[in-house]
Amino acid sequence: MKYLKRCIYGLALVFFSILNLQCKPEKKKEAVETETVVTKDVTIEKRSFGETPEKEKVAIYTLKNTNGIEINIMTYGGIITSLKTPNKKGISEDIVLGYNSLDEYIKSSPYFGAIIGRYGNRIAKGKFKIDGKTYTLATNDGENHLHGGLKGFDKVVWSASEETTDNSASLILSYLSKDMEEGYPGNIDVTVTYTLTNENTLEIAYQATTDKTTVVNLTQHSYFNLSGDFSKSILDQQVQINADTYIPVDQTLIPTGELATVEGTPFDFRTMKTIGKDIEVANDQLKKGLGFDHCWVLNNQNIGMRFAAKAYDPTSGRVLEVTTDEPGIQFYSGNFLDGTLPSKNGGTYAHRSGFCLETQHYPDSPNQKDFPTTILKPGKVYNSKTSFKFYVKKE
Ligand code: BGC
Repeated sequence: MKYLKRCIYGLALVFFSILNLQCKPEKKKEAVETETVVTKDVTIEKRSFGETPEKEKVAIYTLKNTNGIEINIMTYGGIITSLKTPNKKGISEDIVLGYNSLDEYIKSSPYFGAIIGRYGNRIAKGKFKIDGKTYTLATNDGENHLHGGLKGFDKVVWSASEETTDNSASLILSYLSKDMEEGYPGNIDVTVTYTLTNENTLEIAYQATTDKTTVVNLTQHSYFNLSGDFSKSILDQQVQINADTYIPVDQTLIPTGELATVEGTPFDFRTMKTIGKDIEVANDQLKKGLGFDHCWVLNNQNIGMRFAAKAYDPTSGRVLEVTTDEPGIQFYSGNFLDGTLPSKNGGTYAHRSGFCLETQHYPDSPNQKDFPTTILKPGKVYNSKTSFKFYVKKE
């Protein structure tokens, strides 16, 4: 509709410009200039955000649409440092956990807002085999490998470029991960494109190619607190996950290999319920995860982009809707947040003050023969898409 209006307006401009030209030829230059003015609904701006201890320059990009959504993303880790969306009164507030400075991210971060790779989630004992050859990765989570290792994609500086259309702005991040980086085989070329649209979606498109057979499983690790108030717990916020089964884990959060029904368990999020409703129920899996820290097996696999999950905060009215073409989603209820990390607003991030909805392939897939494969071969392209849609529900 807006587009149609703009076309009509544009045509009218051209028409009157021509008329104008014919009547007053001396005004020619002015008329043509007016005609070429393009108004973008979504803008993107770059500024410096400091440098790493290795003296690599870090930039931060602000993407803004005309409906009050404003997102800051930096080139270090491709981290979303802030994401402001309006509440039901139209007030825009930040709904993702993070820090104010680059130094704080470098010092210690539980992957706040970052791109995760080369492998999102855990790989048992940091080992896997490709074509009979064993690869050994860094173990950074007890005996296991987590989120790409000691220096994963969340801790590197990405190259950036921008692209805009009338209705969207994109930040295109790329990174070349070298052969044997963190123990993974193959040089992989990775591109992650963040696109903010004026339909209030943040789309994330991941792409990778390799020169040797390797494993890839990329995701985004934003911690949401839809209330816009980081001092509030997320337990009263509601979640729905489009999954009939989930993946039980062992004591170290590695999948047992089984896919279990959610029916009759605290893991049943097929209809909206508060995160807090069943989180303290006596349940062996909740005990192992210290809450929800599991991968759900999304329904309707192999149909491409489809509804994966939704979160809703009744107080602010904010809704977050997640769509993906990935087979799984890790729902993590911020169980390891313990009040020691400083928040953006002066306080600290308390236990369960943020939740993550990480679209991905299943944990430890390289060692689980029945899970969808995460192998990427030379000549093939890894493609994955996730979209976060933001809106408010007024009751
Ligand atoms: C994992 C948690 C982990 C957290 C790190 C999540 O993706 O599932 O187990 O502690 O990331 O912040």
